Amino acid sequence: MNNFDNTDVEKIFIKGENQINGSVTISGAKNAALPLMALSLIINKGFRLSNIPNLADTRLMAKLLADLGTTIDWQNDTINFNGGPQKDEASYDLVRHMRASILVLGPLLVSKGTAKVPLPGGCAIGTRPIDLHILVMEKLGAIVTFDSGFIHASLKSDGLRGGVINFPKISVGATESAIMTAVLAKGETKILNAAQEPEIVDLGMCLIKAGANIKGLGTNTITINGVKKLTSVNYSVVPDRIEAGSFAIASSITKGDVEILNVRPGDLNSFLNVLKATGSNVQIHKNSFRVSSSKRPVPHNITTEAHPGFPTDLQAQFMALMSIADGNTIIKETIFENRFMHVPELIRMGAKIVITKQEAIVNGVKKLKASRVMASDLRASMCMILGALAASGTSEIDGIFHLDRGYENLVDKLSNLGANIRRSF
Ligand code: UD1
Repeated sequence: MNNFDNTDVEKIFIKGENQINGSVTISGAKNAALPLMALSLIINKGFRLSNIPNLADTRLMAKLLADLGTTIDWQNDTINFNGGPQKDEASYDLVRHMRASILVLGPLLVSKGTAKVPLPGGCAIGTRPIDLHILVMEKLGAIVTFDSGFIHASLKSDGLRGGVINFPKISVGATESAIMTAVLAKGETKILNAAQEPEIVDLGMCLIKAGANIKGLGTNTITINGVKKLTSVNYSVVPDRIEAGSFAIASSITKGDVEILNVRPGDLNSFLNVLKATGSNVQIHKNSFRVSSSKRPVPHNITTEAHPGFPTDLQAQFMALMSIADGNTIIKETIFENRFMHVPELIRMGAKIVITKQEAIVNGVKKLKASRVMASDLRASMCMILGALAASGTSEIDGIFHLDRGYENLVDKLSNLGANIRRSF
């Protein structure tokens, strides 16, 4: 998101080659918080969420919900929502900044009977269509039309009815749309080929606490029996596995030793197995894990996949690590068609990478060199930070408003671990 404020021109400067050591506490997950916040459109009284990360994206979602008429009281990491939406039209000026705004479509339709939501548009990592969200609305009995850049959804006279939603492709957001729209629909909904991400389980667990009837969370078939109403609920957002994975790589890439606190290591299984295979030491505890490394990483090929596979949201960061590996790594991206925007910037730092269609072939170099680089999207920005932490000299990273979308207090957290990092004009 670009608010045309200071984040537009601010930069991050990192003097590399400092080992990072110590412990870091992980914040609540952005990707869980956003759909959970959208639930305030259907849980209209006494809805409290805690462990909300203070990020540009969560602040924008709060603005969008407040603009729809929901009362929002945000203190520290806790938000109290009340009142539900007072209107059915989401603001274009807010929606256009964040693709996840599409998550308000289903809940708004359930609550108001009609919903008008601007098309969220594409973004740097691919075209990112919304056809699967529309499929959800139609399968549950809504009428959907498009007019002047808006999606118009409305209910038929008999309201929303359960149905079978068989996704032709696995989608995190569309699975969330389906869950949020089906919980108050009449009868049974079956979601086939559902996404299994921990953030979806979190959304479902909160709804179950509020009285919803949902079975099969965390599997590829979710069954929902509609209930008449949802009750008030207090819920704490799951820790951010992508932030945790990013700090784990920061430790490995600087040959550091970092304990990563307030996490659910099981959510990161595939990633942690890969990290071990690259030669890092990984010690797993109940709510934390420790990552240390003392030598150059061993190359390890990966393919991004839907959960429980290797997450696309850690692909860019992992590429930074492999850019200094002792040999060649093939990184295959299967989720988004244009998610190699970080490659030219890593090359500026001295990395040797060739892209062929969906694959990046990374020819590890001994050392990266500090450079002036541009962050092109959220996870690509973290890739630049990681490259700079390992590089010799001082790097200057532009475009850091992307980082503010998804990493809470990143500069402070890294600086507390001993990184030589500052943010300024
Ligand atoms: C979510 C995450 C994002 C992560 C992604 C994949 C949030 C807020 N964002 O995004 O960080 O990178 O999951 O793990 O949770 N697709 C369609 N039609 C649709 C919807 C999606 O074709 O209607 C395609 C997408 O273009 C993409 C694939 O499905 O190729 C997966 O996208 P999806 O899982 O929906 O990603 P998001 O929910 O947008």
